Amino acid sequence: MNPRIAQTSAPVIDTLAERWSPRAFDAEHSLPEGALRGVFEAARWAPSANNSQPWRFIVTRRGSESFAAIEETLVGFNREWAGSAAALIVNVAEVEDAEGKPRPWAEYDLGQAVAHLSVQAHSEGLHVHQIGGFDRERISAAFGLEPRFRPVSVTALGALGSHEQLSEFLREREVAPRTRLDLEELVLLRD
Ligand SMILES: Cc1cc2nc3c(=O)[nH]c(=O)nc-3n(C[C@H](O)[C@H](O)[C@H](O)COP(=O)(O)O)c2cc1C
Repeated sequence: MNPRIAQTSAPVIDTLAERWSPRAFDAEHSLPEGALRGVFEAARWAPSANNSQPWRFIVTRRGSESFAAIEETLVGFNREWAGSAAALIVNVAEVEDAEGKPRPWAEYDLGQAVAHLSVQAHSEGLHVHQIGGFDRERISAAFGLEPRFRPVSVTALGALGSHEQLSEFLREREVAPRTRLDLEELVLLRD
């Protein structure tokens, strides 16, 4: 049994059960152009409050200056592994519109778009690992973001590598069974 496949208490779509977040990415793999277009089409068709689509994506490929600029803002053990991904993407929420009116659902909507992207990527044989551990102010400065655009997370996107390439600390986590709270803890059924 593959420990990275979710053990579910009811059937779910295969791509959802099989998606997982690796830290071992193949450092030789580059993304074909079409692959990027597909995952961003999936993000583009996510639902959002009032169809405001308050998401923006800064997309960089490994080897570019922009990729290195994102990598430098990663904190903790994220610096160890994320540089092997084929692309690093900054997920940005438009928290105010151009007139300064707040978009209260912007981060929620951005999360849905990234979820769409993750599932599409997995269905195309790619992997995604989202990262919250990075320096937001440095990212904003590096890409000259106006304050109404808030960097919320970074996505590492690429092909799966080997767990052997990781340090022992990360390798253990890479092969451990994936876990979740029981459904009964999450769902409060009220008749
Ligand atoms: C918003 C967000 C921030 C995350 N930040 C990090 C991070 O900084 N470093 C990391 O290694 N994983 C990070 N993760 C990945 C989670 O740890 C991972 O999704 C979770 O353990 C579940 O594992 P799975 O995606 O394989 O099911 C983040 C995930 C999300 C959604």
